[in-house]
Amino acid sequence: MIWVKVLSKQELNSDDFVKMIVANNKKLCLVKNSGQFHVIDNTCPHAGGILSGGWCKHGNIVCPIHRYEYSLTTGRGAEGQGDYINIYPTELKEDGLYVGFKQGWLKRLFS
Ligand code: FES
Repeated sequence: MIWVKVLSKQELNSDDFVKMIVANNKKLCLVKNSGQFHVIDNTCPHAGGILSGGWCKHGNIVCPIHRYEYSLTTGRGAEGQGDYINIYPTELKEDGLYVGFKQGWLKRLFS
């Protein structure tokens, strides 16, 4: 696992938010919801909506286009949707928040 820093120590105490980040040339959605950090896909699998333009509701990210919902912790779509988004591991370190990428994924990206 390779860890990439996505938030500085000073940014950790901000209010909750939903925003796009770029880590290892990949656009992702970074969410702080009820004080917990989540990194998820930025593209909705339904029809390509941008999840970083959405909002949180009951532990889910809500897509701004057709309002499908995906769990921030499992990536699963709400009941009846049958789709999912990828979620990425996060780790709080002394100097900020990091997101983890499997090494195989990085090797494929840069080879
Ligand atoms: S594009 Fe996201 S719910 Fe349709």
